[in-house]
Amino acid sequence: MPDRPAPYPLAVITASVRPDRIGPTVTRWLLRRLDGHPADVDHIDLADLDLPGDLAGGGDAERFTKRIAHADAFVVVTPEYNHGYPGPLKTALDTAYVEWRAKPLGFVSYGGASGGLRAVEQLRAVLAELHVSTVRTGVMIPDVHAAFDEHGELRRPERAEAGLAGMLRQLDWWARTLRRGRADTPYVG
Ligand SMILES: Cc1cc2nc3c(=O)[nH]c(=O)nc-3n(C[C@H](O)[C@H](O)[C@H](O)COP(=O)(O)O)c2cc1C
Repeated sequence: MPDRPAPYPLAVITASVRPDRIGPTVTRWLLRRLDGHPADVDHIDLADLDLPGDLAGGGDAERFTKRIAHADAFVVVTPEYNHGYPGPLKTALDTAYVEWRAKPLGFVSYGGASGGLRAVEQLRAVLAELHVSTVRTGVMIPDVHAAFDEHGELRRPERAEAGLAGMLRQLDWWARTLRRGRADTPYVG
C-alpha cells in the first residue's frame, strides 16, 4: 500500500454574502466531500469578515491575509450575479497580494442555466494577474435552487462528483508540486 500523502492546507472560500444566500448549502456539500480528503480545510466565509478593501488594511484584512498565506491551495465557491462574480469576492482577492502567488485554485460555481461559468471565466483572468494557477476542472451547478434536496444533497450528483474528483486530483498535484517549488526557489513573479 502506498503511504497516504501528507495533508496540505486548503482554504475553501464562500463568496456570496447575501442574507438569504444558498452559498452555505453549496459549501456544506463540498465540505462533506472533503472530509477524509488529505487536506486540512480552513473554511473562509466572506460573510463573517469585515474586509474594508483599503490597501492600508483594517478590519479583518490582516487575519484574512494570514489565512491566505497559510494555504497551499484554494477552492472558491461562487455564484454568478449578472454574468459576473460577487463584489465581496473581488474585495477579498484584492485584500491579499503575494500570499496568493504560485498556488492553485479550483472552482465550485452555481447559478441559473450557466451554472456560474461566466463568473468563473472572469475570475480566471483576475487570478492570472495574482499569479494563481486555476485548475481546469471544477464543479458547476446549474439551476441551483432546484439542484439540492431537503438534506442539502444534490438530486443528480453524478456530474458534480465527477467534476469534484477531477478538480481535487489536479489541485492536489499542483498544491504539492508548487509547495516544493516555492520551498526550492522563492517565487519572484
Ligand atoms: C443580483 C443577482 C444577479 C443574478 N444574476 C445571475 C446571472 O447572471 N446568471 C445566473 O445564472 N444566475 C444569476 N442569479 C441567480 C443566482 O445565481 C442565484 O440567485 C443564486 O442563489 C445566488 O447565490 P447566493 O444565493 O449564494 O447569493 C442572480 C442573482 C442575483 C441576486
